[in-house]
Amino acid sequence: MIGKDFLTVHDLEPSGVLDLVKKANLMKTASPPQVLANKTVALLFEKPSLRTRVSFEVGVKQMGGTCIFLSNSEVGLGIREPESDVAKVLDRLVDCIVARVFSHSSLEKLAANTDLPVINALSDKGHPCQAMGDCLTIFENKGTLSNLKLAFIGDGNNIAGSLALACADAGMDFSLSSPEKYQLPNEIWQSAQKVSAETGSKLQWSTDPKEAIQDADVVYTDVWVSMGDEEEREERLNTFAPYQVNESLVEYAKPDFLFMHDMPAHRGEEISEGMLDHKNSVVYQQAENRLHAQKAIMAELLSG
Ligand code: NVA
Repeated sequence: MIGKDFLTVHDLEPSGVLDLVKKANLMKTASPPQVLANKTVALLFEKPSLRTRVSFEVGVKQMGGTCIFLSNSEVGLGIREPESDVAKVLDRLVDCIVARVFSHSSLEKLAANTDLPVINALSDKGHPCQAMGDCLTIFENKGTLSNLKLAFIGDGNNIAGSLALACADAGMDFSLSSPEKYQLPNEIWQSAQKVSAETGSKLQWSTDPKEAIQDADVVYTDVWVSMGDEEEREERLNTFAPYQVNESLVEYAKPDFLFMHDMPAHRGEEISEGMLDHKNSVVYQQAENRLHAQKAIMAELLSG
């Protein structure tokens, strides 16, 4: 890890995705190091969570530590008190902050006001812990991360952004298909492109899902209405309708493609009824791997 925090995939050393995945793979098979013994992790969540909260709580426990869960109604980040005060108070009381926030800038303000490690548990800009669990899942199934093609179909959102950065770092091709208005933010696209120029991976965007998914090794999708976008629900459902991942679209991928979704998933919206249980689906393995990837992240940040 370059600094004390894990707010984006860029916080890993260059080509660090594969290293982290290998460490996470070890965490899955061996007993995790007790680097959190006598340590407390604050889980500060402005948005709902199932996988992230449970996998962090279980991971912290497996590594000998304790968690305190703080919901937004208790903390009121930036409203009841500024992020800087929250960070300075937690700094005196706990050993690590894991935060899920609406605005990525809240994470940056927390991180700037404490020496504690701050981990991004999802923001509007990215979900790097998810991307690390996903790369572990791809590695387990394909034995490599390089020379593969991941097609992301749908919204160029936080999940797509972190995957684009992770793919670029790991030498995996990343192909996004989204409506014109829902491409990745320019800043993320540019920075992924900079990295991919070094590693030789290809980044592509197309409005045509069939073009993007052609010969893909991994087919990935996410909700069309992310937390915080609820007011745009009707408009989004209409615009994204041609981007559903279903049995006929995946015919264009390689026969041994992996189907991935970070969940929660909406059958009848971004996926057809049968996709989660498709023979190529690894979605539940992906959910479990959040646990192992996050243990590897915490070990990196807290074992020194
Ligand atoms: N893009 C989704 C991911 C949920 C894990 C959201 O931000 O709501």
